[in-house]
Amino acid sequence: MKETLLAPSLLSADFADLKSAVKKIEDEGGSVVHIDVMDGQFVPQITYGQPVIKSIRKLTKLPFDIHLMVEKPELMVDSFAQAGGDWITFHYESTVHIDRLISHIHSLGKKCGISIVPSTPVVALSEILPLVDLVLVMSVNPGFGGQSFIPYTLQKISQLKKIRSEKSLSFKISVDGGINEKNYAEVAEAGADILVSGSSFFSGKLKWEI
Ligand code: DX5
Ligand code: ZN
Repeated sequence: MKETLLAPSLLSADFADLKSAVKKIEDEGGSVVHIDVMDGQFVPQITYGQPVIKSIRKLTKLPFDIHLMVEKPELMVDSFAQAGGDWITFHYESTVHIDRLISHIHSLGKKCGISIVPSTPVVALSEILPLVDLVLVMSVNPGFGGQSFIPYTLQKISQLKKIRSEKSLSFKISVDGGINEKNYAEVAEAGADILVSGSSFFSGKLKWEI
C-alpha cells in the first residue's frame, strides 16, 4: 500500500472553507489534490473554474490534478494550466482530436491524463496509452460524489496494468469514484497507483497511513 498515493477530491470539501480542506489534505496523507471541474454539460452539475483554482493554488505546493468533466476541453486547457494545474486530465468521451490535445497539454509543460467512464473499454485507449502520463479510470459514472463503486471497473485497472507492463509503458493508473475505507485495499491491489477519494476522505472514514 505504501507505494499507492492518495488524491483527495475537493468535491466533497466544504466550499465555504477550502483553506481548511487543503490543510486537511496536507495533514492527512494526500499526495495530490484532485480537482473536479464540471461544466453542467458533460455532467449535470457545475463546480468551480479557473479563478477558484488560482486562489487555492497559493495554499499548497502539492500537485493539482485537474479532472475536466467538460465538453470541448480543448477550449479550456490553457487557462486551467495557467490557473495552476500540474496534471490536466480530460475525458476520452468529451472530444475528438485526442492525440492533438495530448500534445498541446504537453506543449504547455503539463502532464496529461486521459479519463474513461465505466462503459468505455480500455481497448479504446490502445493508440494513445504510449502518449499519456496518467489514465484516470472512473469507477462511478462521473458527475457526483458519494456514489457506489462499480465492481466491473476493477478489471479495467488490471487490464491497464497488464498492458503497461507488456508494452513497457509508464503511465500512472488513477481510480476515481466510490473508493472508501472498505474497498481501497482491493482497488490498490488491482493496480491503482493513485486512489481518488472524496466523500470517504472528507467524512473522516478513510484514514491514510502516513
Ligand atoms: C465524480 C468525481 C470524483 C468524486 C469522487 O464525478 O470525478 O472525483 O469526487 O467522490 P467519491 O469519492 O465520493 O466517490
Ligand atoms: Zn474526479
